[in-house]
Amino acid sequence: MLDSFPRPILLAHRGDQTYAPENTLPAFIQAIQKGADGVELDAKLTSDGHVIVIHDGEVDRTTDGKGKVASLSLEAIRKLDAGSWFDPKFAGTKVPLLEEVFEAVGKDKLINIELTNYYGPRDDLAQRVCELIKRHNNAGQIIFSSFYSSNLKITQQILPEVPRGLLALPGLLGLWARSFGFMFGDYQALHPHISNVSREQIQRAHRVKRRIHVWTANSPEDLRRLKEWGADGIFTDDPGTAVSTLKEAG
Ligand code: G3P
Repeated sequence: MLDSFPRPILLAHRGDQTYAPENTLPAFIQAIQKGADGVELDAKLTSDGHVIVIHDGEVDRTTDGKGKVASLSLEAIRKLDAGSWFDPKFAGTKVPLLEEVFEAVGKDKLINIELTNYYGPRDDLAQRVCELIKRHNNAGQIIFSSFYSSNLKITQQILPEVPRGLLALPGLLGLWARSFGFMFGDYQALHPHISNVSREQIQRAHRVKRRIHVWTANSPEDLRRLKEWGADGIFTDDPGTAVSTLKEAG
């Protein structure tokens, strides 16, 4: 499915997060309405094993609650308001289940699922997400990503046909992932931070038939430059601006 989209694919980072609360259904729906090729989201497990979509390890920043996601049940998390912190007009918005995002996005768009069990990498997150994809029969629209190669290894065993992108932290912390980790691992894409991307790096990846999906580009200058360099994918916080900028760039 990746190849059926024009290059670069445009993925709305946590949805249309400039104009709606990140990682919520309104943010994902708005991103699709604005013409993004797909959305990026952060998957985590509740204490009782449900896959929800939230970025931080705690609910504090993006809801009216407090506490670690991994210590809260689905019932407790569903009582929280995940919209008012952003704008009162989103009051009552819930932290979504992954399956609800699948339903809201539909099957024609891409969904980059970042496996974000960074505080508890031995949990069942990757297995549970793969089960949901099988149940929903939508493997063709998924890209997996994670900073932890162990997560991507599990998805490779269960759903080998789903592309895997290795995330690399900016700067020195991401050096290993950007070089040996990526080149000698079994990944279809590297997901580097925009501060570490160059035309040469993109060309190197293309020589070995791999893709580069860059996070995060918001300004028209950055978007145009990445397109010109041949980036295969771009994560953006502002899909409306990105869609029109790339359209104008031809
Ligand atoms: O997938 C790109 C990006 O989401 C990685 O960083 O912190 O936004 O999950 P973060």
